[in-house]
Amino acid sequence: MTATAHAASAPARTDPKVVLEAKGVIMRFGGLVAVDDVDMVVREGEIVGLIGPNGAGKTTFFNCLTGMYKPTEGTVTFEGSVLPPKPRAVVKAGMARTFQNIRLFGNMTALENVMVGRYCRTSAMALTSIVRGPKFRHEEAATRQRAQELLDFVGLGRTTEHLARNLPYGDQRRLEIARALATDPKLLLLDEPTAGMNPKETQETMDLIFKIRDSGLAVVVIEHDMRFIFTLCDRVLCLVRGALLVEGSPATVQSDPRVIEAYIGTGPDAPAPTPTAERPAVSLSKEEQA
Ligand SMILES: Nc1ncnc2c1ncn2[C@@H]1O[C@H](COP(=O)(O)OP(=O)(O)O)[C@@H](O)[C@H]1O
Ligand SMILES: [Mg+2]
Repeated sequence: MTATAHAASAPARTDPKVVLEAKGVIMRFGGLVAVDDVDMVVREGEIVGLIGPNGAGKTTFFNCLTGMYKPTEGTVTFEGSVLPPKPRAVVKAGMARTFQNIRLFGNMTALENVMVGRYCRTSAMALTSIVRGPKFRHEEAATRQRAQELLDFVGLGRTTEHLARNLPYGDQRRLEIARALATDPKLLLLDEPTAGMNPKETQETMDLIFKIRDSGLAVVVIEHDMRFIFTLCDRVLCLVRGALLVEGSPATVQSDPRVIEAYIGTGPDAPAPTPTAERPAVSLSKEEQA
Protein backbone atom coordinates (compact mmCIF):
# COMPACT_ATOMS: atom_id res chain seq x y z
CA MET A 1 0.00 0.00 0.00
CA THR A 2 1.37 3.43 -0.88
CA ALA A 3 1.70 6.09 1.72
CA THR A 4 -1.05 8.07 -0.01
CA ALA A 5 -3.44 5.12 -0.08
CA HIS A 6 -2.73 4.44 3.57
CA ALA A 7 -3.37 8.05 4.49
CA ALA A 8 -6.64 8.00 2.57
CA SER A 9 -7.92 4.91 4.36
CA ALA A 10 -6.88 6.01 7.85
CA PRO A 11 -9.21 8.18 9.89
CA ALA A 12 -8.24 11.84 9.87
CA ARG A 13 -7.67 11.64 13.63
CA THR A 14 -8.66 9.32 16.37
CA ASP A 15 -11.71 10.89 17.93
CA PRO A 16 -12.41 10.04 21.57
CA LYS A 17 -15.01 7.36 22.22
CA VAL A 18 -18.66 8.27 21.80
CA VAL A 19 -20.43 8.32 25.16
CA LEU A 20 -23.90 9.41 24.10
CA GLU A 21 -25.60 9.30 20.76
CA ALA A 22 -29.11 10.63 20.21
CA LYS A 23 -30.57 9.84 16.82
CA GLY A 24 -33.68 11.30 15.23
CA VAL A 25 -35.21 12.32 18.55
CA ILE A 26 -38.72 13.69 18.13
CA MET A 27 -41.00 14.74 21.01
CA ARG A 28 -44.55 15.75 20.22
CA PHE A 29 -47.08 17.14 22.68
CA GLY A 30 -50.35 16.89 20.77
CA GLY A 31 -49.84 19.08 17.73
CA LEU A 32 -46.68 20.73 19.07
CA VAL A 33 -43.34 19.34 17.97
CA ALA A 34 -41.13 20.35 20.91
CA VAL A 35 -38.09 18.39 19.66
CA ASP A 36 -37.89 17.89 15.93
CA ASP A 37 -35.59 15.16 14.69
CA VAL A 38 -32.48 16.08 16.69
CA ASP A 39 -29.20 14.17 16.51
CA MET A 40 -26.44 14.71 19.02
CA VAL A 41 -23.16 12.96 19.72
CA VAL A 42 -21.13 13.50 22.89
CA ARG A 43 -17.61 12.15 23.15
CA GLU A 44 -15.46 11.39 26.18
CA GLY A 45 -13.97 14.49 27.75
CA GLU A 46 -16.14 16.90 25.78
CA ILE A 47 -18.12 19.87 27.01
CA VAL A 48 -21.04 20.35 24.63
CA GLY A 49 -23.28 23.42 24.77
CA LEU A 50 -26.97 23.49 23.91
CA ILE A 51 -28.37 26.93 23.19
CA GLY A 52 -31.55 28.34 21.68
CA PRO A 53 -34.26 30.84 22.55
CA ASN A 54 -36.79 30.12 25.28
CA GLY A 55 -39.18 27.39 24.20
CA ALA A 56 -36.69 25.98 21.66
CA GLY A 57 -37.00 22.51 23.19
CA LYS A 58 -33.72 22.30 25.12
CA THR A 59 -35.18 21.07 28.40
CA THR A 60 -37.54 18.72 26.58
CA PHE A 61 -34.54 17.27 24.74
CA PHE A 62 -32.79 16.71 28.11
CA ASN A 63 -35.96 15.04 29.35
CA CYS A 64 -35.84 12.70 26.34
CA LEU A 65 -32.17 11.89 26.96
CA THR A 66 -32.70 11.14 30.63
CA GLY A 67 -35.80 8.98 30.38
CA MET A 68 -38.14 11.57 31.91
CA TYR A 69 -40.00 11.51 28.59
CA LYS A 70 -40.29 8.64 26.17
CA PRO A 71 -39.47 10.26 22.84
CA THR A 72 -42.20 9.99 20.23
CA GLU A 73 -39.49 8.78 17.87
CA GLY A 74 -35.75 8.24 17.93
CA THR A 75 -33.18 6.47 20.06
CA VAL A 76 -30.73 7.40 22.77
CA THR A 77 -27.62 5.23 22.89
CA PHE A 78 -25.25 5.37 25.85
CA GLU A 79 -21.87 3.65 25.56
CA GLY A 80 -23.17 1.51 22.73
CA SER A 81 -26.45 0.36 24.34
CA VAL A 82 -29.87 1.78 23.57
CA LEU A 83 -31.24 3.27 26.79
CA PRO A 84 -34.71 2.42 27.98
CA PRO A 85 -36.69 5.64 28.61
CA LYS A 86 -36.64 5.21 32.39
CA PRO A 87 -34.84 7.70 34.69
CA ARG A 88 -33.58 5.00 37.03
CA ALA A 89 -32.06 2.97 34.18
CA VAL A 90 -30.48 6.11 32.75
CA VAL A 91 -28.84 6.99 36.07
CA LYS A 92 -27.61 3.40 36.46
CA ALA A 93 -26.12 3.52 32.97
CA GLY A 94 -24.09 6.59 33.98
CA MET A 95 -25.96 9.76 33.09
CA ALA A 96 -26.91 12.37 35.69
CA ARG A 97 -28.54 15.77 35.44
CA THR A 98 -29.51 18.91 37.24
CA PHE A 99 -32.73 20.83 36.68
CA GLN A 100 -33.55 24.31 35.44
CA ASN A 101 -35.28 24.95 38.77
CA ILE A 102 -33.32 23.65 41.75
CA ARG A 103 -34.79 20.51 43.24
CA LEU A 104 -33.30 19.87 46.65
CA PHE A 105 -34.59 18.42 49.89
CA GLY A 106 -34.71 21.73 51.76
CA ASN A 107 -35.05 20.25 55.24
CA MET A 108 -32.17 17.85 54.79
CA THR A 109 -28.54 18.83 55.29
CA ALA A 110 -26.16 19.38 52.41
CA LEU A 111 -24.48 16.06 53.20
CA GLU A 112 -27.78 14.17 53.30
CA ASN A 113 -28.81 15.63 49.94
CA VAL A 114 -25.64 14.26 48.38
CA MET A 115 -26.07 10.91 50.15
CA VAL A 116 -29.49 10.58 48.51
CA GLY A 117 -27.79 10.76 45.11
CA ARG A 118 -25.42 8.01 46.19
CA TYR A 119 -28.12 5.49 47.11
CA CYS A 120 -28.58 4.39 43.50
CA ARG A 121 -25.12 2.80 43.79
CA THR A 122 -25.74 1.04 47.09
CA SER A 123 -28.14 -1.58 48.33
CA ALA A 124 -29.85 1.02 50.53
CA MET A 125 -33.26 0.10 49.21
CA ALA A 126 -32.68 -3.59 49.71
CA LEU A 127 -33.08 -5.96 52.62
CA THR A 128 -29.75 -4.87 54.16
CA SER A 129 -31.18 -1.44 54.94
CA ILE A 130 -34.17 -2.92 56.74
CA VAL A 131 -32.09 -5.35 58.76
CA ARG A 132 -29.38 -2.68 59.32
CA GLY A 133 -26.63 -5.24 59.81
CA PRO A 134 -22.86 -4.71 59.44
CA LYS A 135 -23.08 -4.59 55.63
CA PHE A 136 -25.56 -1.72 55.85
CA ARG A 137 -23.45 0.17 58.38
CA HIS A 138 -20.32 -0.26 56.28
CA GLU A 139 -22.10 0.95 53.17
CA GLU A 140 -23.63 3.88 55.02
CA ALA A 141 -20.19 4.99 56.26
CA ALA A 142 -18.77 4.72 52.74
CA THR A 143 -21.72 6.70 51.37
CA ARG A 144 -21.20 9.41 53.97
CA GLN A 145 -17.49 9.61 53.19
CA ARG A 146 -18.06 9.83 49.44
CA ALA A 147 -20.72 12.51 49.93
CA GLN A 148 -18.28 14.56 52.01
CA GLU A 149 -15.60 14.19 49.31
CA LEU A 150 -18.08 15.48 46.74
CA LEU A 151 -19.04 18.45 48.91
CA ASP A 152 -15.32 19.26 49.18
CA PHE A 153 -14.95 18.84 45.41
CA VAL A 154 -17.67 21.39 44.60
CA GLY A 155 -16.42 23.80 47.27
CA LEU A 156 -19.11 23.15 49.88
CA GLY A 157 -16.91 21.27 52.33
CA ARG A 158 -17.83 23.57 55.20
CA THR A 159 -21.59 23.38 54.73
CA THR A 160 -21.96 19.68 55.51
CA GLU A 161 -24.47 20.10 58.32
CA HIS A 162 -26.29 23.14 56.91
CA LEU A 163 -29.88 22.66 55.84
CA ALA A 164 -30.12 22.90 52.05
CA ARG A 165 -32.83 25.54 52.30
CA ASN A 166 -30.51 27.87 54.26
CA LEU A 167 -27.68 27.79 51.73
CA PRO A 168 -27.15 30.79 49.48
CA TYR A 169 -28.55 30.39 45.97
CA GLY A 170 -25.19 29.70 44.26
CA ASP A 171 -24.36 27.03 46.85
CA GLN A 172 -27.72 25.34 46.28
CA ARG A 173 -26.91 25.03 42.59
CA ARG A 174 -23.51 23.57 43.47
CA LEU A 175 -25.13 21.16 45.89
CA GLU A 176 -27.37 19.93 43.10
CA ILE A 177 -24.28 19.26 41.01
CA ALA A 178 -22.67 17.37 43.92
CA ARG A 179 -25.79 15.23 44.25
CA ALA A 180 -25.73 14.45 40.52
CA LEU A 181 -22.03 13.53 40.79
CA ALA A 182 -22.84 11.18 43.65
CA THR A 183 -24.46 8.80 41.17
CA ASP A 184 -20.99 8.22 39.59
CA PRO A 185 -21.95 9.47 36.14
CA LYS A 186 -19.83 9.40 33.02
CA LEU A 187 -21.94 12.15 31.52
CA LEU A 188 -23.40 15.12 33.36
CA LEU A 189 -26.26 17.20 31.93
CA LEU A 190 -26.71 20.69 33.36
CA ASP A 191 -29.87 22.68 32.62
CA GLU A 192 -29.11 26.41 32.97
CA PRO A 193 -26.61 26.02 35.84
CA THR A 194 -25.86 29.75 36.02
CA ALA A 195 -29.39 31.13 35.62
CA GLY A 196 -29.77 34.06 38.01
CA MET A 197 -26.15 33.96 39.17
CA ASN A 198 -23.97 37.01 39.59
CA PRO A 199 -20.71 37.20 37.55
CA LYS A 200 -18.61 35.77 40.41
CA GLU A 201 -20.93 32.77 40.88
CA THR A 202 -21.00 32.26 37.10
CA GLN A 203 -17.20 32.21 36.94
CA GLU A 204 -17.04 29.73 39.83
CA THR A 205 -19.54 27.51 38.05
CA MET A 206 -17.43 27.59 34.90
CA ASP A 207 -14.34 26.63 36.90
CA LEU A 208 -16.29 23.79 38.51
CA ILE A 209 -17.48 22.45 35.14
CA PHE A 210 -13.90 22.48 33.82
CA LYS A 211 -12.83 20.61 36.95
CA ILE A 212 -15.60 18.05 36.42
CA ARG A 213 -14.49 17.56 32.81
CA ASP A 214 -10.87 17.23 33.93
CA SER A 215 -11.94 14.50 36.36
CA GLY A 216 -12.99 12.43 33.34
CA LEU A 217 -16.64 13.24 32.68
CA ALA A 218 -18.33 14.48 29.55
CA VAL A 219 -20.69 17.41 30.09
CA VAL A 220 -23.67 18.81 28.20
CA VAL A 221 -24.78 22.23 29.32
CA ILE A 222 -27.82 24.34 28.46
CA GLU A 223 -27.28 28.07 28.96
CA HIS A 224 -28.41 31.44 27.66
CA ASP A 225 -25.26 33.26 28.71
CA MET A 226 -23.34 33.29 25.43
CA ARG A 227 -20.01 34.35 26.87
CA PHE A 228 -20.24 31.46 29.32
CA ILE A 229 -21.14 28.93 26.60
CA PHE A 230 -18.58 30.06 24.06
CA THR A 231 -15.77 30.12 26.63
CA LEU A 232 -16.68 26.78 28.18
CA CYS A 233 -17.69 24.49 25.34
CA ASP A 234 -15.76 22.47 22.77
CA ARG A 235 -18.82 22.29 20.54
CA VAL A 236 -22.19 24.05 20.51
CA LEU A 237 -25.60 23.06 19.15
CA CYS A 238 -28.30 25.65 18.60
CA LEU A 239 -31.94 24.55 18.66
CA VAL A 240 -34.73 26.68 17.25
CA ARG A 241 -38.37 25.61 17.40
CA GLY A 242 -37.29 22.09 18.29
CA ALA A 243 -34.92 21.62 15.37
CA LEU A 244 -31.14 21.75 15.17
CA LEU A 245 -30.27 25.01 13.44
CA VAL A 246 -26.47 25.01 13.64
CA GLU A 247 -23.78 22.84 15.19
CA GLY A 248 -20.08 23.58 15.39
CA SER A 249 -17.20 25.11 17.26
CA PRO A 250 -17.97 28.13 19.45
CA ALA A 251 -16.38 30.37 16.79
CA THR A 252 -18.58 28.90 14.04
CA VAL A 253 -21.82 29.10 15.99
CA GLN A 254 -21.06 32.53 17.42
CA SER A 255 -20.59 34.08 14.00
CA ASP A 256 -23.52 32.34 12.28
CA PRO A 257 -26.08 35.00 11.32
CA ARG A 258 -28.93 32.50 11.77
CA VAL A 259 -28.03 32.08 15.44
CA ILE A 260 -27.92 35.81 16.00
CA GLU A 261 -31.26 36.17 14.24
CA ALA A 262 -32.82 33.37 16.29
CA TYR A 263 -31.83 35.14 19.48
CA ILE A 264 -32.61 38.66 18.47
CA GLY A 265 -35.82 37.56 16.75
CA THR A 266 -38.36 39.94 15.37
CA GLY A 267 -41.44 39.34 17.49
CA PRO A 268 -42.44 40.77 20.85
CA ASP A 269 -41.53 37.48 22.56
CA ALA A 270 -37.93 37.59 21.40
CA PRO A 271 -35.81 36.41 24.33
CA ALA A 272 -32.72 38.19 25.52
CA PRO A 273 -29.51 36.23 24.97
CA THR A 274 -28.14 37.20 28.36
CA PRO A 275 -29.46 35.77 31.62
CA THR A 276 -32.11 37.68 33.47
CA ALA A 277 -31.24 39.11 36.84
CA GLU A 278 -34.14 37.17 38.31
CA ARG A 279 -33.30 33.95 40.07
CA PRO A 280 -35.37 30.93 39.08
CA ALA A 281 -37.67 29.41 41.64
CA VAL A 282 -36.22 26.87 44.02
CA SER A 283 -38.62 23.98 44.07
CA LEU A 284 -38.54 21.81 47.11
CA SER A 285 -39.30 18.15 46.93
CA LYS A 286 -42.85 16.90 47.42
CA GLU A 287 -41.90 15.82 50.94
CA GLU A 288 -40.80 19.37 51.74
CA GLN A 289 -43.98 20.88 50.41
CA ALA A 290 -46.16 18.55 52.47
N1 LIG B 1 -45.00 18.45 29.24
C1 LIG B 1 -45.28 19.31 28.23
N2 LIG B 1 -46.51 19.34 27.65
C2 LIG B 1 -46.78 20.17 26.64
N3 LIG B 1 -45.90 21.04 26.11
C3 LIG B 1 -44.66 21.05 26.64
C4 LIG B 1 -44.28 20.20 27.72
N4 LIG B 1 -42.99 20.44 28.04
C5 LIG B 1 -42.58 21.40 27.20
N5 LIG B 1 -43.57 21.78 26.36
C6 LIG B 1 -43.47 22.77 25.29
O1 LIG B 1 -42.38 22.41 24.47
C7 LIG B 1 -41.70 23.57 24.01
C8 LIG B 1 -40.24 23.46 24.41
O2 LIG B 1 -40.14 23.72 25.82
P1 LIG B 1 -38.78 23.57 26.61
O3 LIG B 1 -38.15 22.27 26.25
O4 LIG B 1 -39.06 23.81 28.03
O5 LIG B 1 -37.92 24.76 25.98
P2 LIG B 1 -36.55 25.40 26.45
O6 LIG B 1 -35.98 24.56 27.55
O7 LIG B 1 -35.71 25.42 25.22
O8 LIG B 1 -36.86 26.79 26.90
C9 LIG B 1 -42.43 24.76 24.58
O9 LIG B 1 -43.34 25.23 23.61
C10 LIG B 1 -43.15 24.18 25.78
O10 LIG B 1 -44.30 24.91 26.06
MG1 LIG C 1 -35.52 25.01 29.53
